[in-house]
Amino acid sequence: MPEPTAPAPEAAPTSVPKLELRNLSMSYTDRKGRTVHAVDDVSLSMANKPGTGELAVFLGPSGCGKSTILKAVAGLLTPDFGEVLIDGQPVSGTGRDRGMVFQSYTSFAWRTVRQNVEYGLELQGMAADERKARSLKLIEQVGLKDFADALPRQLSGGMKQRVAIARTLANEPKVILMDEPFGALDPQTRWGMQSLILDVLRRQDNTVLFVTHDVSEAVYLADVIFVLSHRPAKVLHRLEVPFFSSREPAVKQSPEFQRVEAQVLDLLHSLQVQGNVRVGL
Ligand SMILES: Nc1ncnc2c1ncn2[C@@H]1O[C@H](COP(=O)(O)OP(=O)(O)OP(=O)(O)O)[C@@H](O)[C@H]1O
Ligand SMILES: [Mg+2]
Repeated sequence: MPEPTAPAPEAAPTSVPKLELRNLSMSYTDRKGRTVHAVDDVSLSMANKPGTGELAVFLGPSGCGKSTILKAVAGLLTPDFGEVLIDGQPVSGTGRDRGMVFQSYTSFAWRTVRQNVEYGLELQGMAADERKARSLKLIEQVGLKDFADALPRQLSGGMKQRVAIARTLANEPKVILMDEPFGALDPQTRWGMQSLILDVLRRQDNTVLFVTHDVSEAVYLADVIFVLSHRPAKVLHRLEVPFFSSREPAVKQSPEFQRVEAQVLDLLHSLQVQGNVRVGL
């Protein structure tokens, strides 16, 4: 008879955060030598949560520094001070472990939709058949099945943004940075994209940093919401969103959901009042 074996230990969350921002400060200098201070001492961490992943939303006024923070995590900008760590290791430069959907449309004009989605997979040296299967599945999931062979100039703004989303997801990065990815979409398509993100997040254990100005979208998607100040961005509030047992869009009508939404709106409203005082309104 075989010896009884000890049960396999369950995957426990590790104590090393998946993503950590430590005292991040960033500024830009224009051609005349003037400095714009965009990010001020931002620290936050996102846990490594096997089996569920985690999604954090940044909410904050236009121009406060949200895209700048995402670009630092992507490794596209180097902070003046502080650091970004993935799995406890400082980030330097871009890497396949991170993928970013930019606020502006960023497709290669000369490549078809499918060739755009396959771009990163080509760089990885994935076989053509496998690449094609993966890209066509994603193209279908973002609702562009009939446009796989179209060029970006034949697409609307929202369709181009969906190509960018598919291209980022195709690479299966562990950390996904999404900068107002659904801004140009109609409500129905937006709901579809929200479900897709929640689905991918759970299946692939992703850590997602997501920027939106839509409070309902933030509460619907987020495990945690960071409310940022006016520029230079500082973290003003960290709000854990309760777990809604249903992630169907109808949950948005529930009293629990609407309570959290009202709480977030209150925080943003107090920020608006502070902003008005600052500019002397
Ligand atoms: N390349 C750049 N050169 C100089 N200043 C810049 C540059 N990019 C951004 N800034 C400035 O940095 C500040 C923060 O910009 P950022 O794009 O991070 O804001 P944001 O929070 O993403 O705004 P929005 O919600 O409008 O997208 C702004 O004042 C902006 O003018
Ligand atoms: Mg931005």
